[in-house]
Order: sequence, then structure tokens, then C-alpha cells
Amino acid sequence: MDTVTLTINEQSITVSQDTTIWEAADSVGIHIPTLCHSPKLRPVAVCRVCAVEVEKSRTMPAACIRQVEEGMVVHTNTEKVQRARKTLVELLLSEHPYPCSQHKTTHDCELELLGEQMEITAPRFNGTETPSTQLRPPDESSPVIAVDLNACILCDRCIRACDEVQVNNVIGRAKKGHKTHIAFDTDVPMGESTCVSCGECMAACPTGALVNKPITESLGTDEKTVDSVCPYCGVGCGVTYHVRDNKIVHVAGRDDGHTEGRLCVKGR
Ligand code: SF4
Ligand code: SF4
Ligand code: SF4
Ligand code: FES
Repeated sequence: MDTVTLTINEQSITVSQDTTIWEAADSVGIHIPTLCHSPKLRPVAVCRVCAVEVEKSRTMPAACIRQVEEGMVVHTNTEKVQRARKTLVELLLSEHPYPCSQHKTTHDCELELLGEQMEITAPRFNGTETPSTQLRPPDESSPVIAVDLNACILCDRCIRACDEVQVNNVIGRAKKGHKTHIAFDTDVPMGESTCVSCGECMAACPTGALVNKPITESLGTDEKTVDSVCPYCGVGCGVTYHVRDNKIVHVAGRDDGHTEGRLCVKGR
């Protein structure tokens, strides 16, 4: 395969020509933050948080989707890049409940973690004047997944996880403009849709928009983690149990090289 050589943050890197800037940077340990991108999913570049500066480029391309080019000179952390990323995160946080239900329990809402890293305390921007719970009431209809579209950042990770990874084709986008939201089937409550509760969308979701319903209390960092195999059927998917006081409090899919962290409803 043909290779190209580019420079990222003064470091010369040679990678195959179908590599993205994000992958090239990641291969040498240079971290570029992401929200809509997950290495497991096809990049769609809808959040722009991974914007970088490329010399002689008119705009700041999204590193998760822009392919490398011979002689490209990339800067991932200039003041201009940091300012642009911070503004994007502030805009997203201006309509995001804080803490969202994911941050309250597992403390890993990717948007809120980014906000914390950027030391954003009070967003500069006001959200919509319509109370968000009126615009997007919570959907508790699924037996296993709680839906709070107020925490949704429209990153489409759930759509790609459901439609392309699991090929269940349940999730899409509905409406336009500020009313745009993810929708199940023909915009029916999740529990009334053709969802099979595999939880892949929830695992892919970076925020508290789709969360594991049984987890209602705050999980600390003191849980023991135990890598194991789901015992329910012969597929034998990799799992990681989070254990507190000898009780399993949370189960997560584990990439065992075969099932890539995917589970069905029984494993979760
Ligand atoms: S739980 Fe599975 S089937 Fe249901 S919407 Fe999510 S990914 Fe699709
Ligand atoms: S529900 Fe989660 S994964 Fe889906 S678009 Fe919203 S934030 Fe992204
Ligand atoms: S997660 Fe589902 S498919 Fe995987 S081993 Fe358990 S029951 Fe079988
Ligand atoms: S992570 Fe690249 S555009 Fe969202």
C-alpha cells in the first residue's frame, strides 16, 4: 500500500495513504479530542471538536475524517485550535444538563469531561428559551435504556452503532433545525419501537442521552473490575464486571478481539 509522509506537531510520520489525520496522530501518541468519532465507527465529522490547523489550508479540517496527504503540515494544539474547540464545547454545554445522568453515575460523559479539561465553569452562551424538558421530555419506555434527549449532542454515534454495527436499523434523525433529534423507527417511544435492547447505541453514546437504566446510583472509582466471558450462551462475548462488596454493579462489553465489546441484552 502507498504511504505518505506528513508532519504533525513538528514530528515526521509515515503512514498509509488511506489514514486520517486523527489516526496518524494517534499512532504516535498525539491526542486529538473527539466527540462524534469513535474508532469503531465510520467517521461522519459532525461535531468538529477534532478540528486541527493544516498549513496552506483555508479552513480547519476535522481530523477524524480528513485523509493525510504527502507533505501535509498539521498543528493539533495551537491557540486558534484551542479557541475553536472551546467555543464548540461551550455551545454544546449551553444546552446540556449538568451533570447529565451518565456523569452522575459513571462519571464519564465525554462532553462534560472535555468541559472540565478546558476549565469551562459557566458557559458564555444561553440555551433555548423553551424549557428543554418541554421540548424533549424524557423517554423511559424501554425496559433497559433511559433516553434523555436534552443530553444529546447529535453526534450520530448511536445511529451508526444501531444501523451499521448491529444492523438493526432502528435509529435515525427526525425533524429539522433546533428541533432535530434522534428518533426510533417513525419517531415512536423507544419501548414501542423495533429496538431489541442490545444496548449498542447506549454503549456508543458519549453522553447521558442513552443510559443503562438499572444503574441509578453513583459508581465510584473503587469498584474492582474483573474481565470475564458472558455465561449466557455459546457466543461467549467478552465482558468486564465492575464489582463492589462482592456484588456486580455494572457490566460492560470487553473487546476480546472477536466480539469487539458488543453484547446483547442478556449480557448487559
Ligand atoms: S438497543 Fe440496539 S436495537 Fe435498540 S436502538 Fe439501541 S442499538 Fe438499536
Ligand atoms: S443519543 Fe447519544 S449517541 Fe445518539 S446522537 Fe445523541 S449524544 Fe450522540
Ligand atoms: S452477550 Fe448475548 S450473545 Fe454474547 S454471550 Fe451473552 S447472551 Fe450470548
Ligand atoms: S470528532 Fe471529528 S468531527 Fe466530531
